[in-house]
Amino acid sequence: MTIQGTTKICALIGDPVEHSLSPCIHNAAFQRLKFDYVYVAFQVRREELAKAIQGVRSLKIHALNVTMPLKVDVIQYLDRVDDVVKMVGAVNTILNDEGSLIGYNTDGKGALMALKANNESPADKKIVILGAGGASRAISYSLAEETREIMILNRTLEKAESLVKDLSSKFGNKVRSGKLCRNLLRKELKEADLLINATSLGMHPNEDKTPVKKNLLRPDLPVFDLVYDPLETRLLMEAKSVGAKTIEGLTMLVYQGAASFEIWTGKKAPIQVMLEAAQEKIEAPKSGIV
Ligand code: ATR
Repeated sequence: MTIQGTTKICALIGDPVEHSLSPCIHNAAFQRLKFDYVYVAFQVRREELAKAIQGVRSLKIHALNVTMPLKVDVIQYLDRVDDVVKMVGAVNTILNDEGSLIGYNTDGKGALMALKANNESPADKKIVILGAGGASRAISYSLAEETREIMILNRTLEKAESLVKDLSSKFGNKVRSGKLCRNLLRKELKEADLLINATSLGMHPNEDKTPVKKNLLRPDLPVFDLVYDPLETRLLMEAKSVGAKTIEGLTMLVYQGAASFEIWTGKKAPIQVMLEAAQEKIEAPKSGIV
């Protein structure tokens, strides 16, 4: 990669950022396509956000990814946001369009692309989504546009209800909510065609946790877990062991990155290159490669 006077800078902002896979995924894509872009990560604390965005404007940084804890706060500093952001209330992608900062959220599109790439089109399905946080908001909105029915189950019922209320103005009663508990899970999973975990249950360092007991899983219920650390969560392992199809969270991470890449460059993202870069990076510490 040659960094020169014309190189466009893309950056991740958030706190922490040092373990992010995004620099690796995007630089692999830029290099493969010989694009004159580079991707770096900046640690930005919440109280420094206004100044950081001012810096983006004055340094003419081309694009940003935004991660925790800035995804909601950043909206107030942008010139425009798209319709997805208006519904989801969080931004993960920004394009600096000749001085105008435009906010997007590609999480939902990423989940949709990951499902389709795994031959799990949401069309005419009943989908059970666990969780009602930021990730769930983004994917529920995207999936509701393409599927028959969505049931959102969350530990805190009020959060699921509030999400469904927001979605109902656009999607009517095809999105419902309930409390994440054993009885309701059993009932809802019986008629489900796809299960998505958008809670953080099972994430490192709580690898032994799972949101759904193994005896509620079945061979004809595909499972998509948004958690990607570990790559194979307990939920996915148990789903696999009963013969179900599984989709790893890393796929979604790469596809949401690909959707950002396409917004920034206007070109199709090299998915396979990005996926391999992410896998290599995530496996590197285990094999001792640095
Ligand atoms: P993200 O942006 O990744 O969605 P988040 O907004 O913090 O993160 O949301 C985390 C989700 O995981 C929430 O749905 C949360 O449930 P609550 O709304 O009840 O907090 C869910 N979650 C986290 N820990 C959980 C646990 N131990 N049991 C059940 N759900 C849990």
